[in-house]
Amino acid sequence: MKVMVTGVNGQLGHDVMIHLHRQGIEGIGVDIQDFDLTDEDAVMSYVKKVQPSAIIHCAAYTAVDKAESDIARCCMINGEGTKNLVRAAVSVKAKMMYISTDYVFPGEGVEPYETMDPKGPKNIYGQSKLQGEMAVSSQMTAYFIVRTSWVYGVNGNNFVKTMLRLGKERDSINVVCDQIGSPTYSYDLARCLVDLIQTTRYGVYHATNEGFCSWAEFAQAIMDKAGLNCKVHPVLTIQYKTAAARPLNSRMSKDSLDRAGIARLPQWEDALERYLMELR
Ligand SMILES: NC(=O)c1ccc[n+]([C@@H]2O[C@H](COP(=O)([O-])OP(=O)(O)OC[C@H]3O[C@@H](n4cnc5c(N)ncnc54)[C@H](OP(=O)(O)O)[C@@H]3O)[C@@H](O)[C@H]2O)c1
Repeated sequence: MKVMVTGVNGQLGHDVMIHLHRQGIEGIGVDIQDFDLTDEDAVMSYVKKVQPSAIIHCAAYTAVDKAESDIARCCMINGEGTKNLVRAAVSVKAKMMYISTDYVFPGEGVEPYETMDPKGPKNIYGQSKLQGEMAVSSQMTAYFIVRTSWVYGVNGNNFVKTMLRLGKERDSINVVCDQIGSPTYSYDLARCLVDLIQTTRYGVYHATNEGFCSWAEFAQAIMDKAGLNCKVHPVLTIQYKTAAARPLNSRMSKDSLDRAGIARLPQWEDALERYLMELR
């Protein structure tokens, strides 16, 4: 099996390469220096040259707030860029794994979302990722769509690194307490993706670390586990203005993984501890 991984300079792509290597699978990591996803010809010629048997598509425009004022670029990369990759995958008969997000859902209620629940993104990033999902599901049969949430990894900037920095600089910080979801360590997610890509259990999946918390609870856990004396003040989303609206309910059901016989990810608290050790 030869797996091409897009977004290898990012958090998840980096960790997917580690797990491919560990499992003795040939991995070809690519990023913007190899081709721009929005360049249809460049994508096609690169994929034809490499001839992967599978593609794990981790690359994306991920700046959620910036996307609100950079709509065309965000949709071009996440929507059209994915379409370009799908065309190329079909041409070499590669199976495709597209990484998507909890932000495709409207985020209402308190129940965990099932994979086929109605979509309704609240922001441009979510809309663009849903366009990407549709590009995959409308043109292919041999595909996996894997939605995840609140990702942090060693290779990149993320909420945990921001909290560690602020925790050293400040006595207290405000963090929203009414958005509930699952923080996800990209290393744990990558293991799950590499397990799944080796199967033919095509379909839509949710994969996050186990358990749910608010951003404020997550921030408090980061401070506690890192031994930082910074007080976390819980605030409501309406008190904390951001350019992009965010869903309050990001809980996702992981039953799809159970049905496919793929091991769930560990608890989020356990993942955070291992991540902090890795950073040290
Ligand atoms: N981060 C999260 O909290 C989160 C939550 C849910 C789902 N996801 C999804 O999970 C996946 C991985 O996320 P991540 O956090 O690992 O992302 P990331 O760290 O932002 O990495 C994305 C990579 O894609 C590259 N890229 C951007 N535009 C490109 C283009 N036009 N052509 C080629 N490469 C391009 C980026 O390069 P540059 O840095 O040079 O732009 C970057 O190296 C994404 O699909 C994301 O939508 C992420």
